[in-house]
Amino acid sequence: MTDNGNLYADLSGYYDQFCAEVDYAEQCAFAERAFDCFGASDGRDYLDLACGTGQHLLHMLRRGFVGTGLDNSAAMLELAEARCPAARFLLCDLAAFEQAAEFDLITCFLYSIHYSHPTSALQQTLLRAWRALKPGGLFLFNTVDAGGISNQRSTITSVVDGEQRLSFESGWRYRGEGETLDLLLGITRESPAGGLKRWTDHHTMTAISLLQLQNMLTDIGFEVTLLEHDYQRLLPWNGKSFNALVAARRP
Ligand SMILES: C[S@@+](CC[C@H](N)C(=O)[O-])C[C@H]1O[C@@H](n2cnc3c(N)ncnc32)[C@H](O)[C@@H]1O
Repeated sequence: MTDNGNLYADLSGYYDQFCAEVDYAEQCAFAERAFDCFGASDGRDYLDLACGTGQHLLHMLRRGFVGTGLDNSAAMLELAEARCPAARFLLCDLAAFEQAAEFDLITCFLYSIHYSHPTSALQQTLLRAWRALKPGGLFLFNTVDAGGISNQRSTITSVVDGEQRLSFESGWRYRGEGETLDLLLGITRESPAGGLKRWTDHHTMTAISLLQLQNMLTDIGFEVTLLEHDYQRLLPWNGKSFNALVAARRP
């Protein structure tokens, strides 16, 4: 078991199956609608933070964006490059990129913003996103309020791949206080040749409230709109949901 490494390094080949139920096309259609609605820059220069294997990038390239993907895992970036040869890639920590006024749209999906840990690193990530945006550019990401984290383990998905059956579990743990959010992942592979094999993975993430996050963004200078966590519609946040989409524009 490694910390923040297993699924994104040794097991990166399983990542897309792990995410088989994520509707990347729907999320990217949402991203473009939100960009049209809340963004105020004319270009199509796009950066995906924590891009993983490049699934969002691919859909955004198809939508006419010029793409750059950032991730701190070389194994994930190798897969992303194979998927999106037209894109540019940055092997870099979320809190360390140094682009200036280059992008019209920056996204960070699948709650990956929480990988910026601790809170001081998250603050750096938000600041660097601000600097990397052109005036009028939009930073779009999803987030969970620490107060709404359920400690129940849940099975995400189970897929049959040739002779093997793979089952993927994921669950957050939060102690109810402090800035650490634990993400626990489990992968089980069952095959006639290999028998039963199980890997577990522990990822340290940042726990934050929506209010705290909103304040951090507005202190940097972003104009923030909170939306319901619904990729089919652009709905204002209802003030109660623990999951939200954040549209933060650099004026
Ligand atoms: C849950 S995956 C999301 C991947 C992709 N956005 C998607 O939706 O499929 C999280 C990604 O964040 C990357 N990551 C984790 N911590 C990071 C950090 N501190 N800086 C940059 N990338 C990081 C991992 O390597 C992994 O590719």
